[in-house]
Amino acid sequence: MDIHQEVKKRRTFAIISHPDAGKTTLTEKLLLFAGAIQIAGTVKSRKASRYASSDWMEIEKQRGISVASSVMQVEYNDHIINLLDTPGHQDFSEDTYRVLTAVDSALMVIDAANGIESQTIRLLEVCRKRRTPIITFINKLDREVKDPFDLLHEIEDHLKIDAIPFTWPIGMGKSFEGVLEIKTDKILSFKAGQDRYQSPDILSKNGSNKKNNLLFEKLFSKIEQDVTLIKEATPEFDIKKFISGEQTPVFFGSAINNFGVQEVLDTLIDYFPPPSYQPAIQRDVFPDEERFTGFVFKIQANMDPSHRDRIAFIKVCSGIFKRGMKLKISRTKKDIKTNNVVSFLSQKRDLINEAFAGDIIGIPNHGVLQLGDVLTEGENLQFTGLPFFAPEIFRSVEIKDPLKNKQLNTGLKQLGEEGAIQVFQLYKSNTLLLGAVGQLQFEVVAHRLKHEYNADVNILPVKFILARWISSKNNKILNKFIDSNTSNIAFDSLGNITFLATSQSQLKISQELHPEIEFHKIREYNKLLSVINDL
Ligand code: G4P
Repeated sequence: MDIHQEVKKRRTFAIISHPDAGKTTLTEKLLLFAGAIQIAGTVKSRKASRYASSDWMEIEKQRGISVASSVMQVEYNDHIINLLDTPGHQDFSEDTYRVLTAVDSALMVIDAANGIESQTIRLLEVCRKRRTPIITFINKLDREVKDPFDLLHEIEDHLKIDAIPFTWPIGMGKSFEGVLEIKTDKILSFKAGQDRYQSPDILSKNGSNKKNNLLFEKLFSKIEQDVTLIKEATPEFDIKKFISGEQTPVFFGSAINNFGVQEVLDTLIDYFPPPSYQPAIQRDVFPDEERFTGFVFKIQANMDPSHRDRIAFIKVCSGIFKRGMKLKISRTKKDIKTNNVVSFLSQKRDLINEAFAGDIIGIPNHGVLQLGDVLTEGENLQFTGLPFFAPEIFRSVEIKDPLKNKQLNTGLKQLGEEGAIQVFQLYKSNTLLLGAVGQLQFEVVAHRLKHEYNADVNILPVKFILARWISSKNNKILNKFIDSNTSNIAFDSLGNITFLATSQSQLKISQELHPEIEFHKIREYNKLLSVINDL
C-alpha cells in the first residue's frame, strides 16, 4: 500500500449553503452520480418522509432542517470522496465551523433566485480565513431566477472572491435550455426531470450531425453576447488562486433535475486538492507521514437508537489507520482501542479496516473522547484551530420531575461534550446554565433530553446576556478578580473560567477596570486564543 498514492486519491470537502438553497438535494445527487446510492430521495419520496438520507435526528424530520452534520464516503473514478454535510441553519453554525476545520475544500450551493444570503456570507468568512478552495454551484435554474451576471457580482461583492464561470446558462425557468461549457464551447441541453442515467444531449459547433449543429447555433445565438463579455471580462482561471481561496469556478444547474451535477462532480475530483499538512502547536503534520495522527472535530450521541453510545468523528491527518490499533489521546495520555471503528454512509455504519489522511473515522466511546482531542501512536500533539464560540444566549434548565435529576445531569454532560450546547456551572452554586449561539439549540437540547435521556425540562430565561472566557498572565490577579466577581463567574464543561455579564456595559467596565485580565470571545480547544478573536 503506497501511502502517497492513497493520500493523493482523497478529496475531503463540505457542502455549505443557506438553508433551502438545495444542499441536501445536491448531496443526494452527488452520491447518486458517484454510484453510492441507487435512488435519490426524489421530491416525492422526500415529501413522504420529509427528510433526506443524510438527516438523522427526529427533530430534523419535524423541522425540516439539518441539525446534525453527517459524513459520507464514496469511491468515484479511482478517487475517495469524503463528503461532510453541515447544518444549514445559522443556529447551528458552531457545528458547521468545526466541520470546516476538518475539510480541505468546500462546495457552495447558491439558490439562483435568492442570490447570496446571510448564512453563506458567514460561512464564507470562515472559509476565507482558512483559505479553503471553493467550487460554486448556482442551483434552481429551472425557476425564474436572478440575472446570471448579477449573481456573479453578488458573489464577488459579498463573498470577496473572484467568480469564474465554467458554464453559462441559456435562459431560465420554463425557457431554461441548458448551459454552455465555456472552455469547450459545448452546449449541454436541459430536459426537466432528466434521469441520472441519461446524459444530457451535447451540442457542438462543428459536429458531424447537422441537426445538432443547427440547434447549437440557435441556442448559442441567445448567449453569444454574454459569452463574449465573460471571455473578455473575467480573469483566466488560475489553479493557484483557486487553491488559496481567491477564485471560485462557478457552475449553473438544477440539482433536482440532475442537471449540472456531473460537471461539478468531475471538477471537484480534478481541482479540489488532496489532504494537506495540519498545523499543530509542536510542529506541522504531513498527510503522508508514516505514523497515524487525527483529531476529534465532532461528537454525536445516540446517533442510532440501536447503539446507545457516542461517536467521536475523527479526521485522519497522517499515517495509516488500521482497525484494532492502539491510539493515545494526547489530552489524557490514555490509550484507546479501535476495534469498532466505523465509517459512514448515512445511517448505515460500516466497519472499516484502514483509513488514510482525509478520511473520517468514527470511534464509538462512552465519553473518553472530547471535541479537539488528538489521537496519535504515542506522540504528544495538539492541533490548532478548532474553535468554540462564546455563547450569545443563556437559559437555565428546570427538571419537571425532580426524581429525574440524574438523567438531566447525564444528558447535559453528554450534550455539552458533544458541543450541541455549552454548559456552565455557576461558581459557588449548583446552578447549571446553558449557553447557545442560536435559540434553536435550546429547543433541540430540550427535545433530546426528553427523548434520549428521559428528562423532561423547562427552559427558563436568565439575566446573563454574554460570556467571555478569561485568563491572565498573573494568577494572583486572576484569583482576585474571581473572588470579587463570584456572582458573574462560571466554569465551562472543561473547567475553563468564564465571566458572565448582564449587559455590554458591565463587560466593558470590567475590561477597563482590569486591564491585566484577558476576555476571550473564542477559545480553542483547551487553550484560550486571542489571535482569532476577530472571527
Ligand atoms: P437545503 O438542504 O439546502 O435546505 O435544501 P433542500 O435540498 O432541502 O432543498 C430545498 C428545496 O428546494 C426543496 O423543496 C427542494 O426540492 C428544492 N430544490 C432543490 N433543488 C432544486 C432545483 O434545482 N430546482 C427547484 N425548482 N427546486 C429545487 P421543498 O419544497 O422545500 O422540499 P421538498 O418537499 O421538495 O422536499
